[in-house]
Amino acid sequence: MITGTTRLYGIIGHPIGHVRVPMTFNARFERDGIDAVSLPFDATPERFSAAIRGLQALENLGGFVVTAPHKQAMVALCDEVVGEARLVGAVNTVRRDPDSRLVGELFDGHGFVRGLQAAGRDLAGKRIFLFGAGGAGHAVGFALARAGVGALTIHNRTTSKADDLARRIQAAYPGCRVEVAAKDPRGCDIVVNATSVGLHDDDQSIDVGGLAPSTLVAEVIMKPEKTALLRAAEARGLAIQQGRHMLDCQMDLMFDFMRIEAPR
Ligand code: ATR
Repeated sequence: MITGTTRLYGIIGHPIGHVRVPMTFNARFERDGIDAVSLPFDATPERFSAAIRGLQALENLGGFVVTAPHKQAMVALCDEVVGEARLVGAVNTVRRDPDSRLVGELFDGHGFVRGLQAAGRDLAGKRIFLFGAGGAGHAVGFALARAGVGALTIHNRTTSKADDLARRIQAAYPGCRVEVAAKDPRGCDIVVNATSVGLHDDDQSIDVGGLAPSTLVAEVIMKPEKTALLRAAEARGLAIQQGRHMLDCQMDLMFDFMRIEAPR
C-alpha cells in the first residue's frame, strides 16, 4: 500500500502510455516488500527541464528512468553523469541523492549485453553486425565493445552517423576493430537491429538469407515482441534475442544504482 513513507521512482518520457517500467518495478517492490512505488511521468520536450527541476525538489523521490525522447536532453540536466552515459551522451537512469543532486547513468547497453550473456553467449572476440547508429545503436555499440567483441561492423541509413559512432567507439576501445560498411551482415556471429525498423509488423530490417546457421539475431524493439526480423531468423532456425531482454536485464543494475534495497 502507498503510505506517507513510500519512496517514489518514476519513468519520464513522451508519450508514456507504452512503457513497462511501472509494472516491472512495482511487481518487484511488492515481491521484495520494498516501500516504494513506480509512476509514469508524461513530459513534453518543451517542459522537460521544468519537470526535472520539480522532481529534483521532491525529498521522497529516489530516482527515475528516462525514456524517449529525453535521454540526450537529460545529460545537461544532471549534476553528474557517470560511466557509459558519459561515453554515449545519453542517460536512462537518474538517482536523486539525499542532497538533491541528480546523478545519471545509461544501462541500455549493459542490459543488452547481459541478455546475451544470460543466454550463454560468449562475446569475447566475436564479430558483430550492428544496424543503426541512433540512440539505441550508440548504447549497444559501446556496450558490445566494452564486453570485448573482436569486430564491430556498423551500418546506418545516414552514413555520417555511422562514421561518427564508429570513430567514437574506436577511440574508447582501441582493441575492437570498428568499421562502417554496407548493409551486408554475412560472416558475422551476431547481428543486431538497433533501428526503429520493425516497429510495424511487416517491416524487416535485415535480410537473414545469407547468415550462417550459428548466427544469433538480436533486436532492440520491444513491441512487437517478435519483429519480422526475428520471425524470419527463427524460420531459418537461427537463435534470437528479443528486445525485452534489454530492459529486463538492466533492472538489477538500475536498482543498485538508485540504491533500492529490500528490507532485511
Ligand atoms: P532510437 O533512440 O530508438 O535509436 P533514433 O535515435 O531516432 O531512435 O534512431 C533511429 C534509428 O533507426 C537510426 O539509426 C535511423 O537511421 P538514420 O540515422 O538514418 O535516421 C534508423 N531508421 C529509422 N527509420 C529507418 C528506415 N526507414 N530505414 C532505415 N533506418 C531507419
